Amino acid sequence: MTVPAVEAVDVWRTYELDGVSVSALRGVSLTIDQGEYVAVIGPSGSGKSTLMHLLGGLDRPSGGRLVIGGRDVTTLTAPELATLRNETIGFVFQAFHLLARTSAVDNVALPLVYRGVGARQRRERAAAMLGRVGLGHRLHHRPNQLSGGEQQRVAIARALVTEPAVLLADEPTGNLDSATGEAVLELLERLNAESGVALVMVTHDQEVAARAHRRIAVRDGLIRSDSLHDRPASDGSGVPATLDPAPSAEPRSASGSGPGHPPGGSGGATGATGRLPWEDAG
Ligand SMILES: Nc1ncnc2c1ncn2[C@@H]1O[C@H](COP(=O)(O)OP(=O)(O)OP(=O)(O)O)[C@@H](O)[C@H]1O
Ligand SMILES: [Mg+2]
Repeated sequence: MTVPAVEAVDVWRTYELDGVSVSALRGVSLTIDQGEYVAVIGPSGSGKSTLMHLLGGLDRPSGGRLVIGGRDVTTLTAPELATLRNETIGFVFQAFHLLARTSAVDNVALPLVYRGVGARQRRERAAAMLGRVGLGHRLHHRPNQLSGGEQQRVAIARALVTEPAVLLADEPTGNLDSATGEAVLELLERLNAESGVALVMVTHDQEVAARAHRRIAVRDGLIRSDSLHDRPASDGSGVPATLDPAPSAEPRSASGSGPGHPPGGSGGATGATGRLPWEDAG
């Protein structure tokens, strides 16, 4: 059995704001295996984005254990975590977060700068990845010269150019019209199937969630259900292969049972652990 791509054990995340504590996550345990296709659903404010940030090493838990690519994030310095993130994780957000004054190819090449890849090879790999998302003819366009769907495809190419184990997508079609969103979704699904990158996607859309092989429902900072499904049937309904008795706070695959962690208190989780490379420029 291979190492899980990401593993969370009893993870808490408490935000302190103006003297008020908000526990956005209250003891979440889950394992994401290589190549999975997971939909994360839940009401607004339930903790989905908080969970994605943690799974991607953009943030650290206030309590619990988080292991990314076999490495426990609590043992890592901020630069080490940034490196791990660069090697292991790709992010796609609802707002595409592209550098505005930078061409598509250079946006996609940026994560490779942090890998020490030479300029020529960066451009070659970025151009090839843009080709895979159907944008081989738009290499030198800047974001404002691209449609929304094209911009999101650039963001997907940027997320995948480093060949990460996991692609975390937080409402990737949220800013797109339904036809464009569908095309982006099909692209993500194709890349998951072809390259074996695990795809973890937050969505508000039940029909979209039904297409994933696994659905995780988050509510009030807890996992309420975590269920596997067959490939969706042609009617899109999807037949459950296993189904937790919902609602349930029982994780599907927590390994080990660490002690409970109180929310917050450590102060170690305040502040970001480093911004994504494309967020600190321009
Ligand atoms: N930086 C922060 N400081 C304080 N509270 C925060 C912060 N980020 C999120 N929260 C709070 O944590 C809770 C979970 O937020 P989160 O963004 O994870 O929700 P979500 O499930 O992604 O919601 P949505 O579907 O609206 O995107 C919310 O109550 C939110 O107000
Ligand atoms: Mg969110």
